[in-house]
Amino acid sequence: MPVSVTSTSRRQFLKQSATGAGLLILPSGIVSGKDSPNNKLNLALIGCWGRATAHYGHAARENVVALCDVDTEHIAIAAKKFPGAKPYTDWRKCLEQKDLDGIICCTTDHTHAHVATWAMNRGLHVYCEKPLANTVEEAQVARATYLRNRGKLATQMGIQRHAKNNFKVVRELIKAGEIGELQEVSAWGNRRLPKPGYLPAKGTPPKNLHYDLWLGPSAMHPYNPGYFEAEGPGNNCLCWNMYWDFGSGQVGDMGSHTMDLAWNALDADLPTSAVASGDAFNPDVTPVKLETHFQIPANDWRPEIKLSWYQGGAVPDSPYARNSHIGHGAMFVGSKGTIIADFGSHAVIPKGTPEEARISRKGARGGYDFQGQWLEACKGGPEPDCNFDYSGKLIETMLLGLVAYRTGEKLEYRNGKVTNSEQGQQLLAKAYREGWPLVG
Ligand SMILES: NC(=O)c1ccc[n+]([C@@H]2O[C@H](COP(=O)([O-])OP(=O)(O)OC[C@H]3O[C@@H](n4cnc5c(N)ncnc54)[C@H](O)[C@@H]3O)[C@@H](O)[C@H]2O)c1
Repeated sequence: MPVSVTSTSRRQFLKQSATGAGLLILPSGIVSGKDSPNNKLNLALIGCWGRATAHYGHAARENVVALCDVDTEHIAIAAKKFPGAKPYTDWRKCLEQKDLDGIICCTTDHTHAHVATWAMNRGLHVYCEKPLANTVEEAQVARATYLRNRGKLATQMGIQRHAKNNFKVVRELIKAGEIGELQEVSAWGNRRLPKPGYLPAKGTPPKNLHYDLWLGPSAMHPYNPGYFEAEGPGNNCLCWNMYWDFGSGQVGDMGSHTMDLAWNALDADLPTSAVASGDAFNPDVTPVKLETHFQIPANDWRPEIKLSWYQGGAVPDSPYARNSHIGHGAMFVGSKGTIIADFGSHAVIPKGTPEEARISRKGARGGYDFQGQWLEACKGGPEPDCNFDYSGKLIETMLLGLVAYRTGEKLEYRNGKVTNSEQGQQLLAKAYREGWPLVG
């Protein structure tokens, strides 16, 4: 006689048999795993045009069941590639769709931590474009939410250069003692996007753009088409990411990628102090020129080190950094020499090399599939390299540098708190508009 199973008991039965067979039950109830007949994920693309187009290829390997964008014309473009996916303009509603397993978030920076945290709280795997957060508190909350779900949810911050072999080679050289004991590390970037202040009110939003949803948690700023005028997908972030309420300037933009080159080689924990200097403070716009310095605690293979970030014309005070003509790069100073690297190549410079020496870098070809690593992890594969523990600490550190810049003080930092400056402690977080809490 056939056994009748209700839908709950069927799900329970599947779960038990699948677990016994070493398979994984995805949040949607799909049984996944290498031996499963159906191992496709149900994904939502939140922010489904712009940078999202770089994820279309990977997403198309799975089932894209939801498309969310504040611009309905962008949804229409994505719908040509993913017909049948349910459209949304508000990510809060999209996250309620019941059959989702995971999301790829490519919205504005000021919504990343919100979307990621809400999604993880609904049991969803998250790939979130860099930067994961726009304030220190956002980084802390997104990371803590991940840590509570570690082993169950797969997360990855979109710093895809991490997959380049050169990252691995630089780390191996340092850990093998090629430059002796590590003493000091810097990363820098030369992108400059100067702006005087928030754009003045101009015109009205086109019918296809839900401007109020675009603002989301941010304080109100009047519409101006200048926030939306870049040509080509993936460039428009350069129209808004320098404004405090929408981004963190080069700290979160190229800083996420370039600091990763250093962070990857350090096994770093959060800093114990931060100090910064740069352009005169502008309440609307993040600084173009900036340098931030952190003390990173010792670990079992290296002493405490000074870690620095330079941008917008500031560079480390080293002849090798200046001679190397690297736009975005990192420098590791050790007791026996220096390593200079950009994303794809590096040079080992023995101690005593003349300051004016011509530095030729060695390329390291190859790499792995960064987005694919996250998809595999969603199906039970190894934890992605740039999970929200790794990347959360990276971006928390970088954003603490901006807090130090705003206070003009050397901040002491312990257990996620600034211990010597009330203003510094206050600036770790910011207020959100009604209806847009960070944790939902
Ligand atoms: N990893 C990389 O190399 C890389 C490259 C470019 C951009 N990015 C990141 O990707 C993100 C998007 O950058 P972009 O240049 O595509 O920006 P964009 O302004 O073009 O926005 C991307 C898409 O998201 C939509 N959107 C914006 N806010 C939304 C919201 N609240 N809800 C739903 N949809 C929303 C936009 O309409 C657009 O379709 C940024 O955070 C940026 O840092 C990463």
